Amino acid sequence: MTLELFDETSAEPSHEAITLGAVILRGFARECAAELLRLVAQITDDAPWRHMRTPSGHRMSVAMTNCGTYGWLSDERGYRYADHDPISGRPWPPMPKGLFELADAAATAAGFAGFAPDACLINRYVPGAKVSLHQDLDERDTQAPIVSISLGIPAVFRFGGSTRKGPTRAFRLIHGDIAVWGGPARHAYHGVDPIPEAQHALTGGVRINLTLRRAR
Ligand code: SIN
Ligand code: FE2
Repeated sequence: MTLELFDETSAEPSHEAITLGAVILRGFARECAAELLRLVAQITDDAPWRHMRTPSGHRMSVAMTNCGTYGWLSDERGYRYADHDPISGRPWPPMPKGLFELADAAATAAGFAGFAPDACLINRYVPGAKVSLHQDLDERDTQAPIVSISLGIPAVFRFGGSTRKGPTRAFRLIHGDIAVWGGPARHAYHGVDPIPEAQHALTGGVRINLTLRRAR
């Protein structure tokens, strides 16, 4: 805990290259993190956390919701974007302007100017939750980057190449970090290892991730 706070506040914001087209912007969201968590709380009042099922019927360990014009869904029909929350039948909560602007600024800092995200998937991890290695392939615009904001307790993020079998590298993502990948790295395999137990001053024992994309 003490160590974690030290990590977060000691390092200057910096860019850490992952590979061509992929970078971690260390600390990029640190100053607005508390505000982002307030926005997430408002969004989940309207569109609550839920554990989606994979097309094969497996319950995902990560709880999810969405904001923006389109929300990412998984169920027995497959993976897709939808403009309504299937639980409420209403449109997803709108994407807050500050979140759109933060994602646009992060994309620009990573070399992808003109990002206009229309979808934000919000993931909640408790210790043990994970996301297996996968590619993001459900978006129409395969040039637009992916902007992924980490809040709360740390994660080990795995990043590989464009084949499932290839080697991966592990990167520790902490509160306030933003990973961006696009262009030559847009279809890289990536995932999150099971989250270790930890505590964070703003989120308790939870990790929140916001993934912004251009879906349509
Ligand atoms: C994902 O890319 O699917 C998850 C990213 C994260 O939680 O850091
Ligand atoms: Fe992903």
